[in-house]
Amino acid sequence: MEEPTTGTTAMMVPWLLLLCITAAATSGALQAHAQLESNGFISIDCGLPGQTGYVDKTTTLSYTTDAGFIDTDAGVNHNISAEYITPSTPTSLHSVRSFPSGERNCYTLGSLVSGLKYLLRGKFLYANYDGLNMLPMFDLYIGVNFWTTVNISASDVEVYAEAIMVAPDDFVQVCLINTGGGMPFISGLDLRPLKNKLYPLANETQALVLLHRFNFGPTDSHTIIRYPDDPHDRIWFPFVDVENWVDITAGEKVNILDELFQPPQEVMQTAITPRDVSENIEFTLDLESFPRDHSLGYVHTVYFCELQEYPSSNALRQFYIYRNGVLTYLQVYTPPYLAGDFVNSLKPFQASQYKISLNATAKSTLPPIINAIELFSVISTTTVGTNSQDVFAIRAVKKMYQVQKNWMGDPCLPETLSWDNLTCSYNSSRPPIIRIVNMSFNDLQGGISPDFAALKNLQSMDLSNNNLTGSIPEALSQLESLKFLDLSNNKLNGPIPSGLLKKVQDRSLDLKYDNNPDICTNGSSCQPERGSNLAIYIVVPVVVIVVLLLVAMLYFCLQRKRKQGSIKNSVKLKNDGDGNSSLGLESHRFTYRELETITNNFQRVLGRGGFGCVFHGSLEDGTQVAVKLRSHSSNQGVRQFLAEAQVLSRIHHKNLVSMIGYCKDGEQMALVYEYMPEGTLQEHIAGMQVVN
Ligand SMILES: *[C@@H]1O[C@H](CO)[C@@H](O)[C@H](O)[C@H]1NC(C)=O
Ligand SMILES: *[C@@H]1O[C@H](CO)[C@@H](O)[C@H](O)[C@H]1NC(C)=O
Ligand SMILES: *[C@@H]1O[C@H](CO)[C@@H](O)[C@H](O)[C@H]1NC(C)=O
Ligand SMILES: *[C@@H]1O[C@H](CO)[C@@H](O)[C@H](O)[C@H]1NC(C)=O
Ligand SMILES: *[C@@H]1O[C@H](CO)[C@@H](O)[C@H](O)[C@H]1NC(C)=O
Ligand SMILES: *[C@@H]1O[C@H](CO)[C@@H](O)[C@H](O)[C@H]1NC(C)=O
Ligand SMILES: *[C@@H]1O[C@H](CO)[C@@H](O)[C@H](O)[C@H]1NC(C)=O
Ligand SMILES: *[C@@H]1O[C@H](CO)[C@@H](O)[C@H](O)[C@H]1NC(C)=O
Ligand SMILES: *[C@@H]1O[C@H](CO)[C@@H](O)[C@H](O)[C@H]1NC(C)=O
Repeated sequence: MEEPTTGTTAMMVPWLLLLCITAAATSGALQAHAQLESNGFISIDCGLPGQTGYVDKTTTLSYTTDAGFIDTDAGVNHNISAEYITPSTPTSLHSVRSFPSGERNCYTLGSLVSGLKYLLRGKFLYANYDGLNMLPMFDLYIGVNFWTTVNISASDVEVYAEAIMVAPDDFVQVCLINTGGGMPFISGLDLRPLKNKLYPLANETQALVLLHRFNFGPTDSHTIIRYPDDPHDRIWFPFVDVENWVDITAGEKVNILDELFQPPQEVMQTAITPRDVSENIEFTLDLESFPRDHSLGYVHTVYFCELQEYPSSNALRQFYIYRNGVLTYLQVYTPPYLAGDFVNSLKPFQASQYKISLNATAKSTLPPIINAIELFSVISTTTVGTNSQDVFAIRAVKKMYQVQKNWMGDPCLPETLSWDNLTCSYNSSRPPIIRIVNMSFNDLQGGISPDFAALKNLQSMDLSNNNLTGSIPEALSQLESLKFLDLSNNKLNGPIPSGLLKKVQDRSLDLKYDNNPDICTNGSSCQPERGSNLAIYIVVPVVVIVVLLLVAMLYFCLQRKRKQGSIKNSVKLKNDGDGNSSLGLESHRFTYRELETITNNFQRVLGRGGFGCVFHGSLEDGTQVAVKLRSHSSNQGVRQFLAEAQVLSRIHHKNLVSMIGYCKDGEQMALVYEYMPEGTLQEHIAGMQVVN
């Protein structure tokens, strides 16, 4: 029987180098698994051109392009320099997306489940993709919480950032922040769902950022273990140092029963012991400087499994486990035979250095053994983003108007990166909220997004001087705190919602809507066009009556003398020719711009109805006309409108209300009639109510 000695083997391991090893993806140890997609994995190959992804041969995982995860105008795709592509360079690292503009650029990963745990991993291989050979350094954020600093130490080094976190929402954003240390870029992004029991120290208020994860004892220094061997797709980097350590490999299966860490079989089947059996195991590593805030400390998990049958009945492997010189496991420890075991932090520890010592006891006949180790720093995830309802609403607004600017990441946080044209209100006792939206002069097209109405805390909104069309959403009157609303200088039409009018009347809202050619200034006069039922019961009969009236009037008028002179001839506007035949209209076609000129920018409203408004105008020769402009919110369908145009265009009696022309210019449709100041006939035709 041999007394074990307690000699020292202090090993300084080049940890950083090991973590960032040039990875080798060999397929030998990896077996193909068929279950893809169903495992909830998101694997993004950033910078990959096109829309289609591929199945990675080594991992059997499906990689997608990053197109659906980031604004299309954010960043630029590059391929890495060919000289850095070796057979072992994973395909997913062959391209990058870099971010020359914007201080913050974010990926948004959706379809998460709030409250569930995930492994999130960013991958970075610089490989001189920009030909500048300038190694960048930049920050990563998970939503609004600092994750880590990415420091690219060499062109050919693969840098991985990994965090285990609980999703605060049903989506998570990964943001790259340019801190002045060079242009941020990213090669890939992975998301893996984890069972909530795993890594118990990752919870709603703190996440674990991986510093080191080593698999001791694989004989091949290229053996990286990940999916499918590890169903959670953690990346276990090989630790190989045959000079100082003996690799032990189990021939048999290791039982892994634990629910907290579930190391893969392949990791637990290898271990190291000191080459000199009288030595102990000791690893010292400096903690990286990246967790800027060390106050939350570190956590570790050390994995053990006895892989050898004891050579004799007297044999014993027994040791103490010290962390920074203090017993971390209070009893003597003997690894169980062919059963995975671990020693882990029950709470985070503070340290400026990490030293793990496995010292054999006096009784031990065999040297200590170690299978794997994981070391994390703890980061806080307590900073909560902007009020989620506000975020939801403003993201919908962003999508509708395809806002670019700096509208990425959280709208209000960090304060220095809050979105342009929004003003947030901050109060440490609750999430930030959006108080003011000023999107004036933003060239906004289309309707007013109804999602503005979901910005419940909005006090002031300025959408003036855009090209907004359509009507004012009734929903805006639900904004209880809204005190100022400027919609002036747009192309809005329809009534001002009664709810808003009421607020204006009781002076709780300052509403501006000047220079919208087609807005009803008096809510009550627009009443009939509300609701689709009204459309059926009022507009349809009106159209029928109009047609009957026309037929009667035609018969009546045909008996009267024709007025001389063709109004058509007096219209000195060119006819573009293509539209008439296709619509079957026998009259002049106006462009929208011409109508603007004729009506002096739709200045004078003659009347309005379900179709929109009728404006006064005059042609170059002074002929007065009435321009019936179909509003986008009109109950009168395009087909009805054209049908009316066709009927009227065939009636050429000039004493009758005559259609001079029409306009179908993109979305815009209008009919142009001769204007008779006495008016009654037009009123019937238009089914309109005259203002004044
Ligand atoms: C563990 O053993 C080494 C020698 O191998 C010794 O230097 C060290 O002090 C021991 N650690 C403790 C906490 O006893
Ligand atoms: C990267 O290379 C692929 C072909 O391998 C090519 O289709 C793609 O356009 C390249 N991307 C860039 C940004 O040059
Ligand atoms: C970044 O990496 C380089 C090269 O490894 C190193 O010299 C530098 O100190 C690192 N920067 C920080 C802030 O850690
Ligand atoms: C998360 O774990 C830490 C201990 O590491 C604890 O202080 C904190 O209260 C936990 N948070 C939640 C939400 O359980
Ligand atoms: C909106 O943001 C842009 C920058 O994206 C800025 O130029 C413009 O002045 C802002 N407008 C308002 C009204 O704040
Ligand atoms: C912050 O919110 C709390 C309650 O929500 C309120 O009592 C307090 O006055 C607010 N503080 C500021 C500065 O608005
Ligand atoms: C919105 O911003 C413009 C400048 O772009 C400014 O003239 C206007 O007064 C702002 N609106 C409000 C309500 O502050
Ligand atoms: C928006 O409207 C302004 C003024 O009405 C006009 O100058 C501008 O060309 C329009 N922009 C677009 C994209 O239609
Ligand atoms: C709207 O018109 C009605 C009569 O049609 C009138 O009583 C009311 O005062 C007008 N409202 C406004 C805001 O002009």
